[in-house]
Amino acid sequence: MSFDLVLFGGTGDLAWRKLMPALFQAFRHGSLPEGGRIIGVARDDLSDDAYRELIQSRFKAVEGGKRPSEEEFKAFASILHYLRMDLSKPADYARLGKLLKGRNADTVVMYLATAPALFTSVVEQIAAAGLNTPATRMVLEKPLGHDLKSNRAINDAVQKVLSENQIFRIDHYLGKPSVQNLFAMRFGNALFEPIWRREHVANIQITIAEDLGVEKRGSFYDQTGALRDMVQNHALQLVCAIGMEPPINSHADAIRDEKLKVLRSLKPWTAEEIGLHAIRGQYGAGTAYGERVPGYRNEPGVDPDSKTETFVALRTEIANWRWAGVPIYIRTGKRLASRDARIEVNFRPAPHAIFRVPTGNANKLVINLQPKDGLELHLLAQAQDKRQKSGTRSESQLTPVQLDLDFDKRFGGERVGAYERLLLDVIDGRLNLFVRRDEQEEAWRWVEPLLDSWASDGSPRSYAAGTWGPSASSAMIARDGFAWSEEQ
Ligand code: BG6
Repeated sequence: MSFDLVLFGGTGDLAWRKLMPALFQAFRHGSLPEGGRIIGVARDDLSDDAYRELIQSRFKAVEGGKRPSEEEFKAFASILHYLRMDLSKPADYARLGKLLKGRNADTVVMYLATAPALFTSVVEQIAAAGLNTPATRMVLEKPLGHDLKSNRAINDAVQKVLSENQIFRIDHYLGKPSVQNLFAMRFGNALFEPIWRREHVANIQITIAEDLGVEKRGSFYDQTGALRDMVQNHALQLVCAIGMEPPINSHADAIRDEKLKVLRSLKPWTAEEIGLHAIRGQYGAGTAYGERVPGYRNEPGVDPDSKTETFVALRTEIANWRWAGVPIYIRTGKRLASRDARIEVNFRPAPHAIFRVPTGNANKLVINLQPKDGLELHLLAQAQDKRQKSGTRSESQLTPVQLDLDFDKRFGGERVGAYERLLLDVIDGRLNLFVRRDEQEEAWRWVEPLLDSWASDGSPRSYAAGTWGPSASSAMIARDGFAWSEEQ
């Protein structure tokens, strides 16, 4: 099967950081179908060779085994091409058309990794140039729009020229190996199903913490903020994966129907709820990797009076029979104490205690998304008794222990990264791990009251870089009698 992958934003941050490394790995391991071309598109005046050199320079910083040898890069470079385009000029789309028609590939992937503000006009121009054919698949990066209205406008524009099954709305969290394994654990095993409900689960915590700041993306981030950048998409997709009912089969729409139901069941925001259960923060100066780092407002590209949030902590509930009353806590932020993404399902304590047990949560299932991928089941056990002198034996306390499944250790090999997996799915036409329009709109609908309230009211609370965010986040969860895992 031949394919052309047209990468709009071919010299941009995403192509640089994620897409090119993912495509290279897929190429290196023989997973990309043979006879493909990758066509980077951007405004810069570059030849094919100059583009190849630029991409090669990206790999120079890569450590160890992931760095291509000269030979390997040369092979990869043979499928890399470049087209300079001014995305506002119809003539440039005609040039792209010529390049594509010369080849007539079975699949033409158009990957929009440009600023979202350009999506609508790019899609319209693609159609005007007749480049929307049955072979076309369009990949739309997040955030798709700025709010519900702009999201709908983009989706309307795209759906005018392509059918829903040609549209791949990407959320790379769905491509992470642990998220795949969450589906496998929940729907491939019957073990957890009976306890996966309000009668047994005390609370669920979703943490997506980053230790990095906004890096070179200050001007983008300052217009976006953590709610749009991480919660509306990644965190809510994790809520869906944890909370959804078993789908009737593994087809894309069966899965997406169930995720949609979760999003529709999320407790709506009232003004009072927002005051109590939505905390936003912004990092100030502090320490990261043992060094002093500047506060958010001093980052390049950021407004020195910015009110953009770099941290969010929320409490919500899925209001249905399975989950009613179970708090779901979500938190995410930049410049936090560590890079750590995980979901914790905290189970209720034993109903009647016959042992002495340590304080804190006895039973929890942790789904580690990064830096390591795996599952941990936390239990209490009786430690092996050390021999003691007669008369000194005392009733010992149960000890917390873990059953630990580390996917890298268990399955070995090099893990397939999220972008690699998802790019291959686009080329294969598999939609399971992509977001349908109605899901995306529902997620925007849910966050919109927060966006509105925060736009008109107050400022984020400050937190020092290198900490776990403002103390109000701990106070919020403590009011329910719980604590974030690092505080337990
Ligand atoms: C992206 C956000 O979607 O996800 C970034 O735009 C964030 O701000 C990134 O850093 C986090 O992804 P990961 O896979 O490193 O957790």
